[in-house]
Amino acid sequence: MLIKAKVVEPWQEETDMLAVGVFEEQNLDEFDDFLKSKIRDLKELGDFKGRKKEVSLIYPSNYKAKRIFLLGLGKREELELEDIREASGKIALKARELKLKVYSSLVIGRAKFSLEESIFSMAEASNLALYSFNQYKKKEKEEEFKPEEFRIIVKAEELDLANEAIKRGNIVAEATNLARDIANAPPHDMPPRRLAEIAKEICEKNNMNITIWDKKQILEKGMGGLVAVSKGSEEEPRFIVMEYKGSEDKPLIIVGKAVTFDSGGISIKPSEKMEEMKYDKAGGASVIGIMKAISELKLKAHVIGIIPAVENLPSGSAYKPGDIITFYNRKSSEVISTDAEGRMILADALSYACTLNPKAIIDLATLTGACVIALGNHASGLISNNDDLANRLYNSGMRSCEKVWRLPLWSEYFEQIKSDVADIKNSGGKGGGAITAAAFLKHFVDDNTPWAHLDIAGTAWTQENTISKSYQPKGATGIGVRLILDMIINWK
Ligand code: BES
Ligand code: MN
Ligand code: ZN
Repeated sequence: MLIKAKVVEPWQEETDMLAVGVFEEQNLDEFDDFLKSKIRDLKELGDFKGRKKEVSLIYPSNYKAKRIFLLGLGKREELELEDIREASGKIALKARELKLKVYSSLVIGRAKFSLEESIFSMAEASNLALYSFNQYKKKEKEEEFKPEEFRIIVKAEELDLANEAIKRGNIVAEATNLARDIANAPPHDMPPRRLAEIAKEICEKNNMNITIWDKKQILEKGMGGLVAVSKGSEEEPRFIVMEYKGSEDKPLIIVGKAVTFDSGGISIKPSEKMEEMKYDKAGGASVIGIMKAISELKLKAHVIGIIPAVENLPSGSAYKPGDIITFYNRKSSEVISTDAEGRMILADALSYACTLNPKAIIDLATLTGACVIALGNHASGLISNNDDLANRLYNSGMRSCEKVWRLPLWSEYFEQIKSDVADIKNSGGKGGGAITAAAFLKHFVDDNTPWAHLDIAGTAWTQENTISKSYQPKGATGIGVRLILDMIINWK
């Protein structure tokens, strides 16, 4: 869908639908005579008061628009960027439902946010809302309808700024949708080698460097975690490193867990909901999305994306509980559970990242069921050795509404993963499972490197208690893409 800014008097806009946001208790003099009287009528009827989530579709006589879609925004002073996203998503879904080719909207949330922020959010959410994963459905794929054009109505002096904000909103949404596509893909169509191909295509197109190690190179480099976890599968592992060099700074490194399917291995998972473990590649998917967006936004930043990719299956050649595995930095771990495979591949990836002289390292991983128990589906777990980095992520989480909540990493937790036969063991038992997983990872990060671990097990796809949002269809969310981009864009 093409999104563009347009300068026109609202009543003169020729469109299939014109959307108008209305605040509760808004002074109706802000509208023209027609809208003023229509909204007053609706208020008197009690049908539409401008409260959040209220909508009303009216058919105007003296507007060139065929329909007017009124959306309640709640109280002006309480408006959040998230309300702009929610409203924009709703407008897009309405246009799709009514099969409208062209729809338009006045700027949602004027006066509260900068025009740039409002329009960026409108473009972003419109694209996110219209995402669908239907390649594998005969009828839906054939009959899919998407609006062709969305126009945001602005004043003449705002046109350039608006178009710039739209461009950036599109880039961020498309990167999120790419991450959703990869995470939603059925595991047989997205093994590690396919993930590497996608990363390569993006790097070639966007002028980034890429290094892909296959099984042989992974073995030679001594990445014992990747070797061990992938041993049970016919699909070979890949170690993918994407680099965007938009500045001479030390690199910010983003690491994403990509287990293209996690059966648990020999410590096999119960079969109920096991199909959801195709989403265990969501961290890696988001890293690919982030790198795509950074290169298209041409940010002045040096960013490296690292994706350790494996499939975790049980077989005669699979790694086993009791095995002792040596990682890239030569530390060893006793395997208690082959289902704690995420930390095994992240151990190699994080210790490799530390050799690249990083400014900071952030990892994204669907790492533990325990994190879902701790925080539910409304926030990702954040564990960090650095308050500044943690605060940046917290603030970006609040702005993007990809919220994160910090858990502690005190020395007590490290006791739980001590082993009698190796440096550490890969499971600390049930208590504090999200934190002991992070304690394991900390063994592979240098003390003086700022590091943050994001456990996205509860947020990477829509689950039982996930709050429904207009711009978030069922399935993979692309979590982390908007969060990390916000952090990099606002890094000062
Ligand atoms: N990918 C899973 C974590 C997961 C589980 C994410 C459910 C989302 C929903 C991870 O590899 C795993 O299996 N973790 C184990 C760790 C345990 C064996 C120490 C877990 O959480 O049970
Ligand atoms: Mn697992
Ligand atoms: Zn896993």
